[in-house]
This record gives sequence, C-alpha cells and structure tokens, in this order.
Amino acid sequence: MSEFWDQKHKANSKLWLTCTKPEEVFQIHGIQLPAPDTRILDIGIGNGDMHRYLVALGHNVWSEDISLVALKKVRPGRGIRESEIHLHGPWDLVLCHLVLQHMNDKQIKRLLSQIYLTKTGIMSLQFAELLDSRIESPWPNHFFRDLETMERIVLDTGFRIQWIRNPTDWLWNGETIRWWVTRIKQLAEGVQ
Ligand SMILES: C[S@@+](CC[C@H](N)C(=O)[O-])C[C@H]1O[C@@H](n2cnc3c(N)ncnc32)[C@H](O)[C@@H]1O
Repeated sequence: MSEFWDQKHKANSKLWLTCTKPEEVFQIHGIQLPAPDTRILDIGIGNGDMHRYLVALGHNVWSEDISLVALKKVRPGRGIRESEIHLHGPWDLVLCHLVLQHMNDKQIKRLLSQIYLTKTGIMSLQFAELLDSRIESPWPNHFFRDLETMERIVLDTGFRIQWIRNPTDWLWNGETIRWWVTRIKQLAEGVQ
C-alpha cells in the first residue's frame, strides 16, 4: 500500500490527498486550538498543510505517514513512520483525519498501540461508515466501519471513547457515507 500512496504524493493528487484546511479539521473535530508548545502528532500528512499550520502557531509537531514521499513534505526529522511514534510521545494531542478509511482493523490496532497520551492528552479520530450499500465493495482500498466496531477497536487497544460528534451524512455516487468523529483517552494513565 505504501507504493500506492507514494504515487499519489508524487503526483500531488488532489483527489487522494484531500488537503482539508487545518482550521476546518479543528472545527470538524470540535477541538479548540491548543496553547503554543503543545506536543502534537498529526497522522496522515496529505499536502503537509496541517504540519506547517501547527508549526507556525508554535507547536511541537510530528507527522506520521505510510508514504516516505509524504514524510519529506514536513521538516527534517519531524516526518515519522508508525514504528517511531512511541519514541516521540507522550502526546498532548493526536489528530487523525481522513486516514482510517484507508486502514483495516488490524492496522488501526497496530497504530493505536504505538500511541501514548499524557494524562490530559486526547486523540481525535475521524472515520467513515457506509450506510445501506447495495454494492458489495463500491470503494476499493477503503474500509468503512460503524461506531460499535470502532469502539471495540478502541477498547481493545487500551483507550475509551470520551466524546462523539453528531455524525454527518453525505451522498457520494449514490451511496450514503456517514462521517464520525470521536475523541479518545487512554485507559491506563499515560506517561507524564
Ligand atoms: C486522504 S489523505 C488525508 C490527509 C489529511 N489528514 C487531510 O485531512 O487532508 C490520507 C493521508 O493518509 C496517508 N495514509 C494512508 N494510509 C495510511 C496508513 N496506513 N498509515 C498512515 N498514513 C496513511 C496518505 O499517505 C495520506 O497522506
């Protein structure tokens, strides 16, 4: 899968990299902009806008991605692989927007098991559910899940859901996609 994303990053694909405006991501996730110097992990670099935005606000930011090409879009040393996440925490804030629909359940569990939050730290996850689909697999390389499935993944990896945003439904090619945003906390106390 990393070759697929390398290609999309090389081509700067607007369709696949989405590039949601950083202010919009905070709005969608219902998160206030944190005070400067917060330790933040952004998962899924896209075009790197979120990383640059948070750096400009004075935050301590790292960004993780499956694509080595994507990692080069952020400051040297601040683009990291999944296996390096635990080296740079504990995190005050972890953002994950428009990434989980590209990961299966096992991959999400592996990702979450790398993450240690501070005592007050939160992780905000966006994921998507496909409602009433009449087609077996209309979206190749996409993984849709409902809230119960996500809650099970979260609990299995030592987190709990703290807050759920009212979901938003939108139509895409005749399918209804439900967008969820959940905020999760670590069950065992995070490292200080
Ligand atoms: C749709 S873009 C979203 C970018 C940005 N977060 C946004 O909201 O605009 C998906 C990003 O996730 C990355 N990605 C895809 N699968 C991933 C995985 N398994 N682990 C980490 N990053 C992944 C892609 O390389 C890409 O940068």
